[in-house]
Amino acid sequence: MKEQIKKIQQTNALAELEEIRIALLGKKGILTARFAELKTCNAEEKKTLAQELNTLKQEVEKNLAIQKEVLELKELESRLKAEKIDVSLFNTANTKGANHPVMLMLDRIVEYFLSMNFSLNMGPLVEDDFHNFEALNLPKYHPARDMQDTFYFNDGKLLRTHTSPVQIRTMQQQKPPIRMIAPGSVFRCDYDITHTPMFHQVEGLVVENGKDSISFANLKFILEDFLKFMFGDVKVRFRSSFFPFTEPSAEVDMSCIFCGGSGCRVCSHTGWLEVLGCGSVDVNVFNAVRYENVSGYAFGLGVERFAMLYYGVPDLRAFFESNLKVLEQFR
Ligand code: DAH
Repeated sequence: MKEQIKKIQQTNALAELEEIRIALLGKKGILTARFAELKTCNAEEKKTLAQELNTLKQEVEKNLAIQKEVLELKELESRLKAEKIDVSLFNTANTKGANHPVMLMLDRIVEYFLSMNFSLNMGPLVEDDFHNFEALNLPKYHPARDMQDTFYFNDGKLLRTHTSPVQIRTMQQQKPPIRMIAPGSVFRCDYDITHTPMFHQVEGLVVENGKDSISFANLKFILEDFLKFMFGDVKVRFRSSFFPFTEPSAEVDMSCIFCGGSGCRVCSHTGWLEVLGCGSVDVNVFNAVRYENVSGYAFGLGVERFAMLYYGVPDLRAFFESNLKVLEQFR
């Protein structure tokens, strides 16, 4: 049996160890067979033989257990060695990152308004009907609600369709004067060359105490100055329009930066590019937040649209496809 124990101690693999265990202690094992001898002994012999066999069995089992642990440890060690990753290995791929063009554009827009003493406000992406529509003078069943294809949740909440609800939240939290912009993502159920279900807007709101403190001229000045900061020496015009939350309302065009105003494909041969919506804050909006004896203006713009014009990107979807060949060009 000494030899068998030695064999156990010299095994190199768990499978080999199991073979030895079966050969000794299995149904047809050597030790098992010896236990069978007990049946043919008389009482006296039985006692000594049983003692001897049990000691042997214990010895074998002890050695099997020890060797099993040794081999398992060895196996773990070699597996860890094989799976080791050398984090100091040199990486030949070019891993230098870059800001996304939409964020670069947003940074520049924010830079202008901060320099003009506007503050930066944020609002939630999941909005309620009151802030996204009702308080912005868009009551239920108002036809202008159809302008925005809304994503609704089961509980009546919705993904904000524009950044204008931040106007309402700001006025509910602060007293005038207010001078703020609110950048952020907005969501509409829409997808083609010029629309994606998520895009970015910047909202602007200025409110002063006094019915005549803020006029349309203040709005014209800031937006003209802003567009010149962004695009250089462009011509700017205000075209009468409609938004439920402003009265009067206007859309702002600038002379086409691709053809200089003579007409091309980008401006549909009009010489003008539409870039902003704006107006004097509608009195119904002030009523919704219980503001009295105030005046103000508001505006809203799409950041992707600005980025398309600024960087000359023809397809809006290029901003959302994460194609490195495109994104690398903005490093
Ligand atoms: N909320 C409008 C939109 O999503 C943009 C807008 C237009 C915002 C005029 C304004 C505004 O504050 O005065 O289309």
